[in-house]
Amino acid sequence: MNGKSAPLDVGGATLWSGFLDRDAQETMVAALREVVASAPLFSPETRLGKPMSVRMTSAGRYGWYSDRSHGYRYETRHPAGVDWPPIPRPVLDVWATVAPEARLPDACLVNFYGEGARMGLHQDRDEADFTQPVVSISLGDEGLFRIGGTERGGPTQSVWLRSGDVLVLGGAARLAHHGVDRIKFGSSTLLREGGRINLTLRVVD
Ligand code: SIN
Ligand code: MN
Repeated sequence: MNGKSAPLDVGGATLWSGFLDRDAQETMVAALREVVASAPLFSPETRLGKPMSVRMTSAGRYGWYSDRSHGYRYETRHPAGVDWPPIPRPVLDVWATVAPEARLPDACLVNFYGEGARMGLHQDRDEADFTQPVVSISLGDEGLFRIGGTERGGPTQSVWLRSGDVLVLGGAARLAHHGVDRIKFGSSTLLREGGRINLTLRVVD
């Protein structure tokens, strides 16, 4: 594990560059393959009924879901009707190191970005307690992450998130708008077929 670095000048946002070494990344991907085997990736629909370009699944007590009829929300089951699998131990270990004061996370969103996938600017605001941080782990191809403030339409900063990077959004950054403009498909050798995985850990209740 490497030290902390702070190229992002956003209060409450901390980027741990290269937090996971290659071995740790491979171990995590193996654990995520098991998650996806029991809770397959799916393409949620936005509130407008458009399928998102990012495919998703979740681990933990709650998983994130969206469809045209009810919009964005947490669900206790995968759309196939099965419980979400437990959050893998190596993922929980990252949370314990970077957010030692926080309560344990009960949702781990697994985002998969294939070639051309992106995620528009949004806030994470479906949780009950915004004093608890959001921890995000990047694996595979580099992603151009953009972060602004709590108001929509304000100035933003961009940073490339690389495989093994961990980003903590706490304090003022907890409700910052953020998104992923694009990925550099094929820039990492971690995933055989290319693409980017992002894990987002949160306390929901
Ligand atoms: C998200 O906000 O859900 C994902 C962010 C990322 O992919 O880095
Ligand atoms: Mn988000």
